[in-house]
Amino acid sequence: MWNPVAPEVVENPFPFWAWLREEAPVWEVPDAGYFTISRYSDLVEVSRDSETFSSELLAVVQRDDSGRPRLQKTDLVRRPQARVLGVADGEMHARHRRAVGRTFSPSRMERMSNLALEIAERCVADFSDGSEIDAIEALAIPIPLEFMTRLLGLPLEDRPRLQAWTDHAMCMAGGLATAEELGQSGAETLRFQAYLEERFEEELAHPGQEVMGDLARAVRAGENTVGGLERWEAVAVLFQLVVGGIETTVGLIGAAVQHAAQTPAAWSKLRESPESIAAFVEEAVRLDGPATGNLRRTTRDTELGGVRLPQGSTVALLWGSANRDATEFSEPDRFILERSNIKGHLGFGLGKHFCLGAALARMETRVALQALVRVKERVTLAVDTETLRHKPNLSIRRLQSLPIALG
Ligand code: HEM
Repeated sequence: MWNPVAPEVVENPFPFWAWLREEAPVWEVPDAGYFTISRYSDLVEVSRDSETFSSELLAVVQRDDSGRPRLQKTDLVRRPQARVLGVADGEMHARHRRAVGRTFSPSRMERMSNLALEIAERCVADFSDGSEIDAIEALAIPIPLEFMTRLLGLPLEDRPRLQAWTDHAMCMAGGLATAEELGQSGAETLRFQAYLEERFEEELAHPGQEVMGDLARAVRAGENTVGGLERWEAVAVLFQLVVGGIETTVGLIGAAVQHAAQTPAAWSKLRESPESIAAFVEEAVRLDGPATGNLRRTTRDTELGGVRLPQGSTVALLWGSANRDATEFSEPDRFILERSNIKGHLGFGLGKHFCLGAALARMETRVALQALVRVKERVTLAVDTETLRHKPNLSIRRLQSLPIALG
């Protein structure tokens, strides 16, 4: 019997997901308190029906002391303070999305791509030919960290703190931390929230041009106006943007550079036709995207794939599995740039909760590759692919390090 939280399954979930799709597309994980959903068509159905499958839940799948998965719920979500953006439904969700939606629109992100390219080029300028670097530390982290800090309007010198706090928040949500780590990360996450509250109070006094300024104006406009927000809502939105926007993109840049570096033909293709980089990024999201799954709670008794889901059931939407469903993608385990449905993956989710930062993540990953491809004739993996390891985390898949050799 598969154990979804066994270390080897977390590192390489693809055989487990293939088993699920084939044998148990809607699977009640034994004694764990939740179901997994793994087929593309079922994920589409669930994502489109946000009335039956609610996002209003604060829960995390954790590895318990016996090494098995267990759903940990908190009743925090009963308090309105906990129902924000990614974990809100209905009008509340719509209001939060309106407040920041335009900021992250594809057209705005395209206009800001020069800033991301400048950061990427600064990173790449330090890479000398013949050297070996860790592409996670030297490229994948600095781009989203600096870009997001600037976009939100936070002080640039706070980047190390923001990075550390993001790690702690990820640790809380990752399901694999020890009690000691959870205690430390919990305390740091509270400090992070206090920091954001303080910064936001300053912003309210003098709203600037960045995202914090937009949120401050929405608060000044008042909760009941279109797009208006309360202070705590604005701070909670900010928290989700930092936590949801940095580590995920680190994961995608890492996965994209890994795929480019481990296949010499891919590198040559990117150099010869840089216009194929956008498709390359999409295929990296599909095949090895950082968001492996999100949870939903059923608001009524329902049925999916012939399995009864009583009201109050928790289901895990396995985006990564859906993206390798052979009924949707031919030769799903292969990296194929010429797919006609190359953007049909669910790596950024679907429906009302479709990733707010998809255009940003796509743009940042594209410019990371552009900057590397422009100046480096050859980039290869400096270690065997089999030795690469991802951070132990059940919700975000991202490499711990990515040693590459530059030519
Ligand atoms: C490669 C990078 C990223 C991936 C793979 C990713 C993936 C996802 C996925 C799958 C969802 C849907 C969650 C659900 O349905 O429950 C989502 C939602 C979200 N993402 Fe991303 N994301 C990425 C980058 C970003 C960035 C850069 C931001 C910063 C703006 C961001 C902010 C959000 C927010 C706020 C939501 C919740 C949206 C809502 O509920 O309306 N993400 N993301």
